[in-house]
Amino acid sequence: MITEIKVLSEKSVDEAKKILLSGGVVGMPTETVYGLAADGTNSQAVKKIFEIKGRPSDNPLIAHVHKDFDLNKLVYIEQDYVYDLIKAYMPGPLTLVFKSKNVVCKEAVCGGQTLAVRMPSHKGCAQLLKAVNLPLVAPSANLSKHTSPVTAKHVYDDLNGKLELILDGGKCLGGIESTVLDVTEKTPRILRAGLITKEMIEKVVGSCEIAEHKSGDKVKSPGVKYTHYKPKCQTALYEESDYEQAAARYEKETADGKRAYLMCADYIADKYPNLKALRLGNTPEEIASNLYDKLLEGEKIADIIIAVAMPDEKGVNMGIMNRLRKSCG
Ligand code: TXA
Ligand code: MG
Repeated sequence: MITEIKVLSEKSVDEAKKILLSGGVVGMPTETVYGLAADGTNSQAVKKIFEIKGRPSDNPLIAHVHKDFDLNKLVYIEQDYVYDLIKAYMPGPLTLVFKSKNVVCKEAVCGGQTLAVRMPSHKGCAQLLKAVNLPLVAPSANLSKHTSPVTAKHVYDDLNGKLELILDGGKCLGGIESTVLDVTEKTPRILRAGLITKEMIEKVVGSCEIAEHKSGDKVKSPGVKYTHYKPKCQTALYEESDYEQAAARYEKETADGKRAYLMCADYIADKYPNLKALRLGNTPEEIASNLYDKLLEGEKIADIIIAVAMPDEKGVNMGIMNRLRKSCG
């Protein structure tokens, strides 16, 4: 199969719509990362996603809908705070997990009773969702375990030959996947941290829990138990307070003949103007936005990426650290 990248336009959206309505899959941009989309009501189409990615069959998919789509068609909204969350943060990088009405097929939710739903704010993605007017299930458009893609070219690099069309909507600005929030109970619970932070949810709902994923637990968000986001080169991760050790490691690896790169915030890279660095920016939002792009750039030029952690786990840093530990830890 020949994979084409087409700039997102009325014409290419129409083409994507035709592919999706006939049971095919399409690469689509969102404000977080690129997704691999299929009609969530079509079992055969959904199975293709799992095949293409090599995704474990117990890891459910998120359904994406446009902002005027009636969620009551797909799920039971049982908690009143959900309406406040929708008003505050949707469309945007927030995914809500509800009890499903089973309109989205069982293959997409891996036989589970819940459905994760989100409304992307990316303009082109919204255009596509409006055109198909169906729930499109979409995981990140990478091979399972690899780093998530934030450009159409990243999708192509992983999935070339496995799908017909990738819509190019530019670089994803969010850079890390949506916050996944369980809203089936009295207190919402973060299953995967992201750009909509615990603090932002507390501001609207009053309280918010964070799911702990201990080994041996029955995992509520199966995706979190798998190796994830791994670039193709070697990696190491140092605490922010140990950045000097990261620099020493760089010197050691370089002396051993390896192509080493630091991956860190600009304020750390600035201390070592002579070391090669994948610079992430300074604010947490910048760092989230650049993280996967730099990992995917790094795997092409480095034998080892030596990453430096964020100083804490507050706000967006929680989501960044979740990804950094999995990709580089
Ligand atoms: O930003 C995003 O969320 C991106 C873009 C493409 O929308 N999508 C994404 O999908 O990250 P994926 O499949 O790579 O990750 C979905 C996460 C996994 O950790 C999965 O286990 C969890 O959401 N999830 C999906 N459905 C769930 C459900 N019903 N209950 C609990 N967790 C669920
Ligand atoms: Mg993923």
